[in-house]
Amino acid sequence: MAEAITFDWDVPPGVIADVRRRTLYPFKPAGPETDAEMADNPTTVFGAALQAGTPVGCVAVLDEPNHDCALRVRWLGVDDAVRGRGIGARLVQATQLCAATRQLGLWADVRVKAIPVYERLDFEPLGDFFELPDIGRHRVMRWWPSGLRP
Ligand SMILES: CC(C)(COP(=O)(O)OP(=O)(O)OC[C@H]1O[C@@H](n2cnc3c(N)ncnc32)[C@H](O)[C@@H]1OP(=O)(O)O)[C@@H](O)C(=O)NCCC(=O)NCCS
Repeated sequence: MAEAITFDWDVPPGVIADVRRRTLYPFKPAGPETDAEMADNPTTVFGAALQAGTPVGCVAVLDEPNHDCALRVRWLGVDDAVRGRGIGARLVQATQLCAATRQLGLWADVRVKAIPVYERLDFEPLGDFFELPDIGRHRVMRWWPSGLRP
């Protein structure tokens, strides 16, 4: 039987640094240069999915107003071995709970592969697809707590 997955919110960045790099930036070296951007915005709150205590998924939410939303979702990543079990969705839901508590909207630059995950959670697309170097096609997706959607 597959090991149960647990979720931790507001973990230190070091907890998710490895899973963030290997799921989102496998082409970058493991090390402080790759991890440095996690400390750029001191409002960033990190979430982790854990399997037997080992991080296998990550997400972050931070104050970064854009696209008429105050909060940004970043760094959603789930290890290959545990994909397709709803872990990605649970991590995004944790950011929605955080946004609902603060009554603020969320935006994200979403990779094509993750768009269905966000869509199922009622995020809506904004504008055209765009390319980011080394990573590929993205689209801005937005979500608001009920009553706040413009
Ligand atoms: C995108 C990503 C985070 C999704 O993580 P995940 O844990 O597999 O996400 P979910 O399990 O919630 O959803 C993935 C798929 O599994 C399906 N699924 C979820 N739970 C399921 C279950 N219990 N049984 C069967 N299928 C299930 C979903 O319907 C979804 O299918 P779809 O993509 O064809 O629509 C993961 O693929 C990843 O890390 N990719 C590389 C990095 C990346 O692109 N990150 C996104 C940055 S914006």
